[in-house]
Amino acid sequence: MQELIQNKDTTLDYILPKNVRKLGINPNHWYVLARSNEVTNKPISITIWRQNIAIYRDNSGNIHALEDRCPHRQVKLSHGQVINDKLECAYHGWQFNSKGECAEVPYLADHQKLPSCKIRQYPIKEQDGFIWLYPGNETPKIEPMGLPEWDHLNYIATVSVINTKAHYSYLIENLMDMYHGHLHQDLQAWAEASLQNIEEDDHSVHAHYTAQSYYKIDKIWSISQLFFPALRRLHPEPLDVSYVYPHWVSSLGKDFKIYCLLCPINETETKAYLIHFTSLNAFWRLHKLPIWFRKWIKNSLFGAAQKLLDGLVIQDVKMIEEEQQAFLNNPEIKNYELNKALVSVQKLMKKQERI
Ligand code: FES
Ligand SMILES: [Fe+2]
Repeated sequence: MQELIQNKDTTLDYILPKNVRKLGINPNHWYVLARSNEVTNKPISITIWRQNIAIYRDNSGNIHALEDRCPHRQVKLSHGQVINDKLECAYHGWQFNSKGECAEVPYLADHQKLPSCKIRQYPIKEQDGFIWLYPGNETPKIEPMGLPEWDHLNYIATVSVINTKAHYSYLIENLMDMYHGHLHQDLQAWAEASLQNIEEDDHSVHAHYTAQSYYKIDKIWSISQLFFPALRRLHPEPLDVSYVYPHWVSSLGKDFKIYCLLCPINETETKAYLIHFTSLNAFWRLHKLPIWFRKWIKNSLFGAAQKLLDGLVIQDVKMIEEEQQAFLNNPEIKNYELNKALVSVQKLMKKQERI
């Protein structure tokens, strides 16, 4: 691919088809709807690709997901409450079990039977600190992507939420195009990205860049680089970014791993969780300390990169939303693209939507 990039005329403008901004999603994947700690026994409503879903915990702490619609009068079930592990509608008090069947009507007369109405129940899993939902109609044949670093004692996590009024393709393209480090100059994340090669298949696009990183986590006090820009020194590191449909994952050298877990809401709105992990793998002395102490370090440093991550999100969201607005105002205007990773990404989005 290196060869391909060098041989082709890189000044050639690749005109991207616009209809990618209208693409639907492939529902036969696990999407991330919430963080674990956002779901309690008080139901919440979350929308994934125009489907409203009520999510709640039962008394045993298990998570359930039902269509957020009372079949009696079509109001949202998430306005209600959980009573004896059933979801009770706020309006007339009908109750629904976790299979979505009507299980109780408070004013049912002696001669009346329970209505046979049923709402949709969604496959849902709680894994690695997040709630994963499968909106497809078939029984899932795949597992959620997962975040192996979430519970690993050698990784410190920071989470930032992305809420953007833009189609998910703009977010994925932003994350796959490392040439946009230009935008983040004051936040000093990475510099001098150069695309080396791309690997792609029906499910993923892996783009390998070389870059300069501002951070090196090789001393225990290196974490302070996250807070003090003066301590940062540019040095070369591989920068790998992957679109593993429908999510994104990247690594900058051995010290950082970042995930973006998506919940596309509709054609012009996307929610996502950005999870940044700083690795403590380099500190072998730390690994010999008692587990409770390592857990304490991991928990105390949770959110260490919050300022950096939130700052990056604000800058990215501004650009992404402007792109979306420009498209809505004038869908006929063509973009010019030089990064071949983005051409691959668009191909994958289209392919997945058709599956
Ligand atoms: S609308 Fe839900 S119980 Fe009547
Ligand atoms: Fe960015």
